[in-house]
Amino acid sequence: AQLAAHKSAWVDTGAGLEAEIRACTRCPLHCNATQAVCGEGPERARLMIVGEQPGDQEDLAGRPFVGPAGQLFTRVAEEAGLDRGAAYLTNAVKHFKHIPRGRRRIHQRPDAGEVERCKWWLDAEIARTQPRLILAMGATAALALTGSGAGITARRGRIERGLAGHDVLLTLHPSYLLRLQDDAARARATADFRSDLAQAAAIA
Ligand code: URA
Repeated sequence: AQLAAHKSAWVDTGAGLEAEIRACTRCPLHCNATQAVCGEGPERARLMIVGEQPGDQEDLAGRPFVGPAGQLFTRVAEEAGLDRGAAYLTNAVKHFKHIPRGRRRIHQRPDAGEVERCKWWLDAEIARTQPRLILAMGATAALALTGSGAGITARRGRIERGLAGHDVLLTLHPSYLLRLQDDAARARATADFRSDLAQAAAIA
């Protein structure tokens, strides 16, 4: 998938960005989600970190990166010397996409159209934050930020020029680490992830 660049066209009409994100009906994903999950952190953070979309726990809590992937991210960030509280943390897509299976809600990856619709909000967050560096965690964030959906394992650890003209450092998504069954492969991927987070902390 490929996405085109466009500058943020969002204009604050007085309600504020968060209130507008919470009221978003730009795509059908809001129908099955509990709530939109807005970004969190200092509005003028030097580092912006972008994930894919809220998961089950984020959807219920209304905060990004509080579930298992978020806890892993927070732990590895600490090891890497990256201060989560100093960064602006958000997602490419603001509503939880899932299908019900019994009592569980199974995560579904957002498609390129949903990423494109939600880029309206991501562009507005970038325009407001004006970060020195954006860290893209996983392929969906990379697609939203660079326009390219090419595989992330070959691109991680490198800085690409984002659609909005920002430096975008690509890394793995913490959920990917959680899914790896093989201990050695998981240890390698975690080391790569830690090294990318340390690079982000050093630059920003
Ligand atoms: N995964 C994400 O990409 N974002 C979250 O907020 C939680 C899990």
